[in-house]
Amino acid sequence: MRTKLIAGNWKMNLSRVESVTLAGEILHHTPAMTQAQVLLIPAFVHIDAVAQTIGKSHLLLGAQDVYFERSGAFTGEVSTEMLLELGVSHVLIGHSERRHVIGETDAMLNKKLLAATSEKLVGIYCVGETLQERNSGKAAEVILHQLQAGLANLSHDVIAQGHLVIAYEPVWAIGTGQTATPDHAQETHAFIRSRLAEIISPDLAEQIRIQYGGSVKKANAAELLAKPDIDGLLVGGASLIVEEFVGIIKAAELK
Ligand code: PGA
Repeated sequence: MRTKLIAGNWKMNLSRVESVTLAGEILHHTPAMTQAQVLLIPAFVHIDAVAQTIGKSHLLLGAQDVYFERSGAFTGEVSTEMLLELGVSHVLIGHSERRHVIGETDAMLNKKLLAATSEKLVGIYCVGETLQERNSGKAAEVILHQLQAGLANLSHDVIAQGHLVIAYEPVWAIGTGQTATPDHAQETHAFIRSRLAEIISPDLAEQIRIQYGGSVKKANAAELLAKPDIDGLLVGGASLIVEEFVGIIKAAELK
């Protein structure tokens, strides 16, 4: 039984006051969560304010990135320990905007995933093909490579403890309003799980949660979550709108 994980990736949006207000409203509108976990992922500089707002509630706190070194001369970077100190439990690794806009490589992402999971953070490792890769029939190859490179040397123990989540986010669906159909998403999630069985082990592959992301909204959440291999949603734009995000959370609660 894989508990659904609904995450709101706020990206580089919202002021401090807006972040606190949004977190407060989500908390208010989702009082008794039993079926799903809900994760808020604000900008680094607002994590502490959001942490105070949500307190020790059912809401979980995430970060959008982390560096793989523990400390030192790495200007602008943030360590796992700094995140843990703020109450962060989850971290995105390899979001497509970090891969394609910032230029992070698979090798860096693998180091980040190893660092985060060894410090007991849950690493949400993002994979997905671009439109060009999709159109040239390379989606499966690209995703397989991202999985093999990113998950190299990850210990089976941290996976068994639930510290690895995969997010499938086709780049052509992010922020475009173009969602993968539930059938297409399911097909890719099943493919990812079958590859995880080979790369890691069949038993652990059954335990790993695979989120879908890319233009998720209240109107399509239930249909996506109804698919057997879709274990949660990673939501960008719609997570900034209370009514939309609460609607998505409620869709997961009904499953
Ligand atoms: P979107 O973003 O929901 O705005 O498409 C998803 C993501 O980038 O995680």
